[in-house]
Amino acid sequence: MNGPVRRIVIATHNTHKTGEFRALLGAGWEVEDLTMHPELPVPVEDGATFEENAGLKARSAAERLGEAVLVVADDSGLEVDHLAGRPGIFSARYAGPGAGDAGNRDKVLQELEGVPAAERGARFRCVLAVARGAEVLACFSGAVEGRLTGAVAGEGGFGYDPIFIPEGHEATFGELPAAVKNGLSHRAKALEKLLEWLEDAELTSPP
Ligand code: IMP
Repeated sequence: MNGPVRRIVIATHNTHKTGEFRALLGAGWEVEDLTMHPELPVPVEDGATFEENAGLKARSAAERLGEAVLVVADDSGLEVDHLAGRPGIFSARYAGPGAGDAGNRDKVLQELEGVPAAERGARFRCVLAVARGAEVLACFSGAVEGRLTGAVAGEGGFGYDPIFIPEGHEATFGELPAAVKNGLSHRAKALEKLLEWLEDAELTSPP
């Protein structure tokens, strides 16, 4: 490992997301999330876009954690062509509050019942906002194209992973090894851009 370990707080309570960031960032980063900061309020995600929601989550945590902490917020979701881009920013709560991942997947599968394979195109999109203090410094996005299955397949990943087959594969993100998902995911692509920017901005250590 080169250089000192750098600290980053991911503004999420979704430990699956945190686990992916940990795997993607590797040993040079100490990755925390909001489950380790129960004192921080959970902001209302009332933005109209992934960018707005990522920005408000990042700012909410960063302004309370202070200037020495680099905060990254992830707002992400599934866009289904046949559903005019839904669930989109409503992915986490598509089937209503408390429905959870299984309820959300079932709702999407029901809405696509009878839709042929060629018309089941979809993509995961991720926007990452990086903030320090009260300021959102930059946003980066990534997407992975694919199609939806007719039924749940696999137990890996989270959210809509068991119904999403990424382009170039014949198995869902729920079936594919985590390393395969992390090699091509929307999150990985956005994070790659963010890391390049961080290196250029020399913001990886406290001021
Ligand atoms: P957020 O936490 O408000 O950004 O909501 C993200 C939601 O989008 C999650 O709860 C999942 O339903 C979905 N989602 C985002 N990224 C992924 C992924 O990598 N795999 C599966 N579902 C995802």
